[in-house]
Amino acid sequence: MPVPVPPPGELVRELEVLVHAHHPLLLFETVEEDRVRVLLSYLADRVGIPLFVWNPASGLEMVGPDGGRPVGTEKPEQCLAFIESADLEAIFFLPGFPELESPLARGRVKEIYRRYFRHRGQVVFCGASVELPLDLEPLFTPIELPPPSLEVYHRFVSSLLQEIGERRPIHIDLSSDDVTQLLNALHGLTFFDVQKLISQAVIEDGRLDQQDLDKVLEAKRRIIERSGLLEYFPHSHQMRDIAGLGLLKQWLRKRRRAFSDAERAKAFGLTPPKGLLLLGVQGCGKSLCAKAVAAEWGLPLIRLDPGNLYQKYFGESERNLRRAIGIAEAMAPCVLWVDEIEKALGQGDNDGGTSQRVFGTFLAWLQEKKESVFVIATANDISNLPPELLRKGRFDEIFFVDLPSRETRARIFDVHLRRRKRDPAGFDLDRLAELSEGFSGAEIEQAVVSALYTAFDEEVDIDTERVAAEIELTNPLSVTMAEKLQALRAWAHDRAVPAE
Ligand SMILES: Nc1ncnc2c1ncn2[C@@H]1O[C@H](COP(=O)(O)OP(=O)(O)OP(=O)(O)O)[C@@H](O)[C@H]1O
Ligand SMILES: [Mg+2]
Repeated sequence: MPVPVPPPGELVRELEVLVHAHHPLLLFETVEEDRVRVLLSYLADRVGIPLFVWNPASGLEMVGPDGGRPVGTEKPEQCLAFIESADLEAIFFLPGFPELESPLARGRVKEIYRRYFRHRGQVVFCGASVELPLDLEPLFTPIELPPPSLEVYHRFVSSLLQEIGERRPIHIDLSSDDVTQLLNALHGLTFFDVQKLISQAVIEDGRLDQQDLDKVLEAKRRIIERSGLLEYFPHSHQMRDIAGLGLLKQWLRKRRRAFSDAERAKAFGLTPPKGLLLLGVQGCGKSLCAKAVAAEWGLPLIRLDPGNLYQKYFGESERNLRRAIGIAEAMAPCVLWVDEIEKALGQGDNDGGTSQRVFGTFLAWLQEKKESVFVIATANDISNLPPELLRKGRFDEIFFVDLPSRETRARIFDVHLRRRKRDPAGFDLDRLAELSEGFSGAEIEQAVVSALYTAFDEEVDIDTERVAAEIELTNPLSVTMAEKLQALRAWAHDRAVPAE
């Protein structure tokens, strides 16, 4: 037996306005038919008009105690013909309706629009990706179904557990922290998926406990990657794996609570942080930071894959970006990582303006975003960076990640020696730090790795001398690209905050 989906709040009132303003055609781009149906039944109640729901097996059916079913409306064209000629003050919900391609169907929809425009009553379409013919598009009002709040998930899961509990004994072993984590993990999943997952988890062993959290996270990962636009990263790095970048780390630490405990932060007068732009020298820990923030804050890390954003069809890319954003918002709270944003979104203007529009969409979202999606964008080439990106209100802060200082270089050697199970105390880190002036973190790591190879080949263990020898052999990027680096620094000087 399906558990009732909890009532939607705000949106019903917004839809009520549309009913009174005579918007006859609505389009929900979502797979969550059940939620739309519940929403519409609340709406129908509030405005006091009947709701009809269509399905291909039984045609239109009036919802409610006295039911009622107009005959011969199973076929899509019959259904449209009925709605057109009935010219009723009613809401017609047509989930899974086939595409409106035939000239006849298009003609009917236009006629419905003309008639229903004169009174209340609406025809509501809904599907995962409804393609409207160009001539119909302007007649439709698209509606976004925002992800429900955690509280709504909470109520849904509670009633689900109660329902299962009436049939068999279940044991729930979750601390209040676990419950928050579970709800965060469920956030973004459809109620259908939630029901499936929770029932499975409970019925398997009669318990709901911490182990089930992993299953939920795994389900979430699959959903994210199904889109082809986003990549899910399991947690791999912690803040302590990053040497230096003290100011950046401090900034992040301070904002952690405001992000994870968004409701209390809001009550306190704070808005959840939007995100960061990390600008800087290659190989100095920008990507590393994105990963560590997600791990440290215990949030899923999803990366926007810009390559898949650009499709050959006009308009597709913006739509793809909106889809990706939609998924990220549904996954909130999460960290959305846009690596090399200058390449991802600002490809210049030689593609007919597509990337500029995509970029505009992204910026507008960044500015207005309300969901707890923390954006970490990285860039190392400023020449392609559109100035709008840097304007106040987009990111909370722009950090410049420079080459590591001498002290930090010593710490980077320390991190990478430890990671390879060597005790840094056996090395002259001071000397290595001095020798590696102008090296990036990645180059330091590379020196350690190369020295390991040498030592392995010579059948001895790695030591200071061997690492020093590798350093001598390296021509760091800061030398080969000295001019570019200078320009980057000069640029960042009054536009960004140093990360260290
Ligand atoms: N501050 C650091 N502490 C520890 N390791 C570091 C640091 N900076 C860089 N590294 C090492 O160098 C590697 C490359 O760093 P990362 O990918 O974060 O660089 P990036 O700034 O994103 O560079 P790019 O601009 O090329 O993307 C890391 O995986 C890490 O092993
Ligand atoms: Mg990187």
